[in-house]
Amino acid sequence: MNLGLLGDAELERSPVVANNAMNRERRLAGYRRELGLDIARFLRDRISAGAVPRWLDLCCGTANALFEAARTIPGEFELVGVDLVDFFAGPPTPPRLQLITASITTWTPDAPFDLITSVHGLHYIGDKLAILTKAATWLAPDGLFIANFDPHAIRDDSGTPFGPRLTRDLRATGFTYNSRTRRITCPARRDLTLPYTYLGSDDHAGPNYTGQPAVNSHYLRS
Ligand SMILES: C[S@@+](CC[C@H](N)C(=O)[O-])C[C@H]1O[C@@H](n2cnc3c(N)ncnc32)[C@H](O)[C@@H]1O
Repeated sequence: MNLGLLGDAELERSPVVANNAMNRERRLAGYRRELGLDIARFLRDRISAGAVPRWLDLCCGTANALFEAARTIPGEFELVGVDLVDFFAGPPTPPRLQLITASITTWTPDAPFDLITSVHGLHYIGDKLAILTKAATWLAPDGLFIANFDPHAIRDDSGTPFGPRLTRDLRATGFTYNSRTRRITCPARRDLTLPYTYLGSDDHAGPNYTGQPAVNSHYLRS
């Protein structure tokens, strides 16, 4: 079956990824709703424990949630947001916030993070499983990764979802996936490999559970 799969450069130019209809403007309340996590409390708890917590938001959109955290949470912390397009709110950018225009498929951090989030960002990524495994290694030993994730978008070379086999593989490497909330988490730093070889992506997948057109990612499982 010829799926006409795209590489990252083509995908990043696709109208599905460069789509103005997607919601890029969530604030902390929206992140709390989508992730089931009170990020302000998470950061405050670590600050109270004497740490200088670092939060990385992958596919941060306008970075409204990061701006809100930087402006409202007292104490020492560091915030980093990465997005393909610089639709960032502001300026001015608060001193504790760093905003980076880059693809998360090629960007790498230079220090570990206490918290890594991606709110409805993975739906637009080609090699989603590579981002999951990289994010797990970018965590501090007691860090937390949490993201919205649709396993239905992970497909084999014939276009069929891997289904429960994928969620079993993810759980076996230390991820937690909740099929009701469609959230994936990694509760601590992990060096892991998943038995999947990336083939390319399909930007004609149509709307996913969010109602927005999304990207399917195709793999061979070894
Ligand atoms: C639905 S928006 C979510 C934005 C933000 N997390 C929010 O909830 O408001 C998805 C974001 O993913 C970004 N994105 C898509 N592909 C990306 C890539 N390869 N690297 C970084 N960001 C990407 C888009 O530019 C967009 O801002």
